[in-house]
Amino acid sequence: MLRNKDILDEKDKRLRLVSKDVTFPLSKDDLKTIDLMVEYLTNSQIERLSEKYNLRPGMGMAAIQLGIPKRYLVIVHEVDEEEFDTYIICNPKIISNSSEKIYVEMGEGCLSVNREVDGIVPRYARVTVEGYDTKGNKIRVRAREELAIAFQHEIDHLNGVMFTDYIDPKNPYKDSDKYRAI
Ligand code: NI
Repeated sequence: MLRNKDILDEKDKRLRLVSKDVTFPLSKDDLKTIDLMVEYLTNSQIERLSEKYNLRPGMGMAAIQLGIPKRYLVIVHEVDEEEFDTYIICNPKIISNSSEKIYVEMGEGCLSVNREVDGIVPRYARVTVEGYDTKGNKIRVRAREELAIAFQHEIDHLNGVMFTDYIDPKNPYKDSDKYRAI
């Protein structure tokens, strides 16, 4: 089982690596890692479990956050109370996006950023992501709103980009009138 300490902190330079595409079949280690990521993200969003195991709640994780520079990510999206859609995507690419942009009004969060960060991060309101499942079958996901933001955030991790990079500390709410708050 993963614990908070297994997740790299933003100060760790490995988070700046550009992760490498995976090949199929995935290794046993990678499949195990993916299982652990799904378990962590799911448990972390169930209050009694996040308290029991002291997990920071999060809906997405990229392999590099565990120090593994490979292009796969997991998103566990709560669609109803304790009901989750789980997305596991290898070598993901955004193949199309809306022109409309949105941002998380409460501020975006990241399991690797253990502090409050003020400011807005403009993201596409809708994206289509293409990639592969763990067996190497091509998959395509259409995502909107919060889920679309999660995909953009996690794909950024695969490119060594953190959400904090988008925020100008001198003017953290710059251009907020140009985008829709969610
Ligand atoms: Ni993150």
